[in-house]
Amino acid sequence: MELLTNAPLPRAVPDKYVFPPEKRPGNNLQLLDPSIALPVVDLRGGRDLTDADRRRVVRDIIDAGKEFGFFQVVNHGVEDGAVRAFRDAAAEFFALRPEEKLPYYSDDQSRPFRVASSTTYDKSETRYWRDYLKLQCFPVDKFVHQWPPKPDQFRDCLGEYIVQVQHLAATLLELIAEGLGLDAGFFRGELSGGDTQMNVNYYPPCPDPSLTLGLLPHCDRHLLTVLSQGDVSGLQAKYGGGWIAVQPIPGAFVINFGHQMEIATNGLLRSVEHRAVTNAAKARMSVATLIMPATECLIAPAPELVGEEDNNPAKYRAFRFSEFIEAYDAAAASRDSVLDYFKI
Ligand code: OGA
Ligand code: NI
Repeated sequence: MELLTNAPLPRAVPDKYVFPPEKRPGNNLQLLDPSIALPVVDLRGGRDLTDADRRRVVRDIIDAGKEFGFFQVVNHGVEDGAVRAFRDAAAEFFALRPEEKLPYYSDDQSRPFRVASSTTYDKSETRYWRDYLKLQCFPVDKFVHQWPPKPDQFRDCLGEYIVQVQHLAATLLELIAEGLGLDAGFFRGELSGGDTQMNVNYYPPCPDPSLTLGLLPHCDRHLLTVLSQGDVSGLQAKYGGGWIAVQPIPGAFVINFGHQMEIATNGLLRSVEHRAVTNAAKARMSVATLIMPATECLIAPAPELVGEEDNNPAKYRAFRFSEFIEAYDAAAASRDSVLDYFKI
């Protein structure tokens, strides 16, 4: 079992984590000027908005979504205490002794709760500087027994956290539907009703962040991601010809769209490539909640967003989500091109 968090940190980056020069963080696209930042949307508590506030929030989300595919939300209704408690419990999991983590260590993607390291598709590839937990987390009753009994508070804190984050996701999906002129319930049901997954990404301090990456450039395969990135930077989103560093904002969530959102909106809200760089000074932990379609959900561009006579034909054919997952897994390292399989 090879976890970065199982051993004292090396003084230099071991060779198997050193990327060839053209793939290093500073050597492909440029990091954009910090004055280019993701929009921050104030959700004003998320519930019981006045009509005027609701219109403003909806407009902010759609504007941000169309331009960046990413935005941050504050005042989102998820309690600070619930976020902190789960983040603490998850960090404690990574700090457990190696033998306590061993029963959960697996590269088998079908496991409902597992810990692993890196993100490689074949063993000869360069390794990424990341340990992670991957788990199924909602509905809670269905998965709670798969979660580890240690640290003591892990199950309770995750249950509390995920119920609140699901609520936020449902609110966002309603606001997005409204902003696109769709029925408020458009994303409810099967499109967002698959079992929710979570990635807890743990990036230990890295002796030389210029040589390696924490997470490969990728697009998310599902519908919507709600990410708590904590107070250490590292996430970067593609924008124009470069990368925007997503600035940590205390208590905020970073929201981005997955491939299914891009397809369901016929390309209006794009699934944007992102990656994580490492940090020499501090460990960084991000908690990504992944809102998924049901496995057999039929996905296609919303008829309301397609119009042959407006010169806006459907860009994607209809498919089942299970078919998409198969194509995504088969595309391995070139996952951003997976949308091509479904283009008309
Ligand atoms: C992910 C992801 C970004 C981060 O888990 O899909 O993009 O900041 N995480 O760790
Ligand atoms: Ni991602």
